[in-house]
Amino acid sequence: MKIMEIEGGRPLSGIIRVSGAKNATVALIPAAILTDDEATICNIPEITDTDALCDILKFLKVKVNRASESMIIDPKFMENAEITEEFSKKLRASYYFMGALLGKYKKCVMYFPGGCSIGARPIDLHLKGFEALGAHITVEKNKYTVEAEELKGANIYLDIASVGATINIMLAAVKAKGRTVIDNAAKEPEIVNVATFLNNMGAKIVGAGTSTIKIEGVDYLGKCFHEVIPDRIEAGTYIIIGALCGEKFKVDNMIPEHVDSLLSKLEEMGVDLEIGSDYVTINKQSDNLKATNIKTAVYPGFPTDLQQPFSILLTQANGKSKVNETIWENRFMHVPYMSNLGADVTVKNQTATIFGPTPLKGTTVTATDLRAGAALVAAGLKATGKTTITNVEHILRGYEQIIEKLEGVGAKISIKEI
Ligand code: UD1
Repeated sequence: MKIMEIEGGRPLSGIIRVSGAKNATVALIPAAILTDDEATICNIPEITDTDALCDILKFLKVKVNRASESMIIDPKFMENAEITEEFSKKLRASYYFMGALLGKYKKCVMYFPGGCSIGARPIDLHLKGFEALGAHITVEKNKYTVEAEELKGANIYLDIASVGATINIMLAAVKAKGRTVIDNAAKEPEIVNVATFLNNMGAKIVGAGTSTIKIEGVDYLGKCFHEVIPDRIEAGTYIIIGALCGEKFKVDNMIPEHVDSLLSKLEEMGVDLEIGSDYVTINKQSDNLKATNIKTAVYPGFPTDLQQPFSILLTQANGKSKVNETIWENRFMHVPYMSNLGADVTVKNQTATIFGPTPLKGTTVTATDLRAGAALVAAGLKATGKTTITNVEHILRGYEQIIEKLEGVGAKISIKEI
């Protein structure tokens, strides 16, 4: 197991450069197998989720050429094999191979995906979408066989605007016969990034980023070059850290519009921000932050993935704040650890109530999932004394070079294997 140690309570200043988006990358890599030629993707983050997907590509005999931040994926000689339970369980996004393999070969055999335990995380909407396109699904224990004689465009209404289902249905539909319309599609920037990638290959997708996506099936997808968008959740996490501990603290190489809901909330709280075209700077720390309430929602609402780090900032605001989680049933696992660090926080009915400001004091805590881990890093940087975070493997799944980036702005932070 890896642990992280932070000597907190230090002011942070300097520049943090945001990496490519994890949630776009983890869809783009499986999507790349849809090309009949080869695909080059750049700005790929070095995170363990990327490694796990590359392992699946190699298992399927896809040629992968990885050099620094770019990856050339050549599926010309790939073989469609059953993706083992071990590979499927490594991460949530393994499920994008379902849509991609179904789209390419009209067949995929794999197991229920893994990922953070933040809720039940069903995949019924993905499967309903595949069925609407003409696929038959057999489930034996955890093993899913999805196959079709022919995939035919269809009108699909998503009961929930699910990111995963929207992308997976796009992947299955790009080569289907005729037109597919996805209604109540999710609108996250990562979906636009994936649609642009497929269009660069020759797909005909319009409407990505709105709630209606239309896909005209094509027979051939060609060579393409593509860039991963900056990670809005990583950017948001560092902006929150800046609001907690920063002075002349710049988060660079990002798209501020992608974190509009966060920036509005920070402004409402009185954080001294400068918002540029591709950066956000926290000028100086405020010791008089106002309490506020947030409710997580699909994009462009307040992202559930920033709720946990944001709750740490609320411990430093004056008065009572509330965090209402509406997307995942189990996203308050960081709360007992917040209390151990000195926060005044309780949870009832999917809402955390936080009274502040309270001083935070370092102790030993556990990263129960990726964003809970990021929240504890933010807390450890603010807390006086030493914070030790166990199970940091969760954090490394989604934050590229987190140690180097935070050291670069003056943090005392390290990781060691125990
Ligand atoms: C993606 C993100 C994750 C983020 C989430 C919501 C990736 C790899 N992960 O997860 O970081 O927290 O979006 O912004 O991009 N649902 C169903 N049935 C389904 C699919 C989803 O009921 O078939 C429900 C889920 O239980 C959840 C809600 O829909 O309550 C949203 O899930 P979804 O948008 O699909 O999240 P993911 O794509 O798994």
